[in-house]
Amino acid sequence: MSSRLLFTPIKLAGLNARNRIVVSPMCQYSSHDGGPTDWHLVHLGKFALGGAGIIFCEETAVESRARKTHGCAGIYNDKHVPMYRRITDFIRANKSIPAMQIGHSGRKASCGPPWTNFKPLTDADAKLGLTPWQGVSPSTVAHREDAQVPHELSVAEIGEVIASWREAALRTLNAGFDIIEIHGAHGYLIHQFLSPLANKRTDAYGGDLQGRMRFALELTEVVRAVWPKDKPLWFRVSAVDGDGGAWSLDDTVQLARELKARGVDVIACSSGGINGPLNMAIVPRVAGYQVPYAERVRHEAGIMSCAVGLITEPAHAEDILQNGQVDFIAMAREFLYNPNWPVHAAKALGVTDYLDLLPDEYAWWLKRREKIREISK
Ligand SMILES: Cc1cc2nc3c(=O)[nH]c(=O)nc-3n(C[C@H](O)[C@H](O)[C@H](O)COP(=O)(O)O)c2cc1C
Repeated sequence: MSSRLLFTPIKLAGLNARNRIVVSPMCQYSSHDGGPTDWHLVHLGKFALGGAGIIFCEETAVESRARKTHGCAGIYNDKHVPMYRRITDFIRANKSIPAMQIGHSGRKASCGPPWTNFKPLTDADAKLGLTPWQGVSPSTVAHREDAQVPHELSVAEIGEVIASWREAALRTLNAGFDIIEIHGAHGYLIHQFLSPLANKRTDAYGGDLQGRMRFALELTEVVRAVWPKDKPLWFRVSAVDGDGGAWSLDDTVQLARELKARGVDVIACSSGGINGPLNMAIVPRVAGYQVPYAERVRHEAGIMSCAVGLITEPAHAEDILQNGQVDFIAMAREFLYNPNWPVHAAKALGVTDYLDLLPDEYAWWLKRREKIREISK
């Protein structure tokens, strides 16, 4: 389609993405009993109509107790499979790749949505039908003062949790997704195992870097074993912690190398979230502030990487790719503002057939309008 890298199709395992623009996972707090609703079909469907290459569903819980809120998405029950199938069929029919992010909130479970500042649920909420539940974690360390102390997973229970990732991966496959991303970032369960701030264990799942990585690596092996070879596996990291640097970029590079050896195809680099209510690091929020993390992972671990975080300008996105810093550009909030961002970006970058990113139902009319404009100039 174009000499612009952003719009150059890219091969990824057995898939071809029509461009390198990724809709980053975005929790909607609009699921019922874990299952997606009409909201999700419209929310995700419009990004396919708008021309994105890869569209990620929000963090989707591998167990019921792995949700953060009662409204969080899940894929912990077979009944969820046909509900997601409706969404994946629509995304694929409109030339985008349907991708799933699976995750486990661990000790960050049992809270309200962001507009309550993720306030932990209490007995008062129970009276409104929002019963609190206890989260799980490597150690009995709460992530904020007003949160419940989590249950410390025994080694046998760790095995059960890992098995739930396998089941979720199989359901994800049956639901028609082409990519899985394992959510290892933002202070959720995998990140809790990785970080010495949350992981105080003295057994094989704690202690040094190798011990703290064990949960992430075992779980990745289990998911990879059931996820077909021709379908890519992504892993999202918090490349650095927002709190005291307890998890460093060097650690992330080491983790990325181990993940690559276990068949992970792409590392998506976010940051922060181990302590406190919000999911982002305390790093200066300049445009593309996490690009250097994804760049280092790409070069030092020799694995494809995806940048995310305040990338909104087409020329900036293109430069990041042209500079060889990363392989994919993910965006979240900009897609909420403009679901047709790829079309606008293609036009801004001088891609002549930019309207072809839209479905015929729209493109035919808009091309006609362009012609009329040309004639009447
Ligand atoms: C509404 C909303 C929900 C989010 N939910 C998730 C999520 O489910 N999983 C995840 O890894 N990141 C989540 N994030 C973080 C985004 O994927 C992204 O990393 C972050 O917003 C920075 O990118 P941006 O500047 O393009 O918005 C969410 C962000 C927003 C705005």
